[in-house]
Amino acid sequence: MSTVRKAVIPAAGWGTRFLPFTKSVPKEMLPIVDKPAIQYVVEEAIRCGIDDILIITSPYKKAIEDHFDRSVELEHLLDEKDKDRELRQVRELADLADIHFIRQGEALGLGHAIGIARRHVGREPFAVLLGDDLMHPSSKVLQGMIDTYEDRGAASVALMQVPHAEIGSYGCARVEPSDDLPDPLVRVSGLVEKPPPAEAPSDLAVIGRYVFGPEIFDHIAATEAGHGGEIQLTDAMLAMMAEREVLGWVFQGGRYDVGSKPDYLRTVIELGLEREDLRADLMAVLRAVVEREGMCP
Ligand code: G1P
Repeated sequence: MSTVRKAVIPAAGWGTRFLPFTKSVPKEMLPIVDKPAIQYVVEEAIRCGIDDILIITSPYKKAIEDHFDRSVELEHLLDEKDKDRELRQVRELADLADIHFIRQGEALGLGHAIGIARRHVGREPFAVLLGDDLMHPSSKVLQGMIDTYEDRGAASVALMQVPHAEIGSYGCARVEPSDDLPDPLVRVSGLVEKPPPAEAPSDLAVIGRYVFGPEIFDHIAATEAGHGGEIQLTDAMLAMMAEREVLGWVFQGGRYDVGSKPDYLRTVIELGLEREDLRADLMAVLRAVVEREGMCP
């Protein structure tokens, strides 16, 4: 089976949930300590052996392109000041992988955004990583999905159990008993984008990691606007399932929804606490806050 070496990261949304910040700064540039969220996503792809990344952007997203580009003036300045560690950090960024950009001219939905990648991806399998869903650096979800494609030739989607009341915020999967598949794989038999909880076939939510063969592009091209008047990736996947097996990779934990304000703050705190250089100071801040707010037992 062919190797998955390309990834597509859609980053064209307006980020209205994070206004006013997102008026002039793309939501993908929200800082998680000292790195923008999208850098975590790019690094996750690279950890999985991907060396060609296409980021789908829109106008007003120049900061993302600048972030992954060389900055000769900054490098020169850091060099002159003997700031070697910082110099290495900014240089590494541009050398991480081949990072390409293409614009989604019109905001017609996630399916449409992925469809734009067709010419770049060509006849190869590829991964899709949504920037709002940040995975802990130790996560094995995407690697497992890529291995599944390489071993069985099966497209897959990451699935996570969410509280029933929240399933309407996600794509939702119907799954079948799959004793013949190794854990944590399940066979997906249906997909519906953001169903009312009462109509949801399960509480298994689509989380933003997918691995596809190139045939998904034909299905995206044939998909009409669905939920919210947008061309939905879940609808294209549903159409593909008529011809081709789609597996679910069920996982729990290690996912951060940086599109939600409380979870964004949790992300900064949890990943900040994992930093040797910050842990002690951050713990002191958290202790002081808890004490002051009278939340100590
Ligand atoms: C998108 C997908 C949805 C998926 C979600 C995961 O929705 O359309 O199927 O469950 O990402 O984060 P969005 O959150 O962009 O509205």
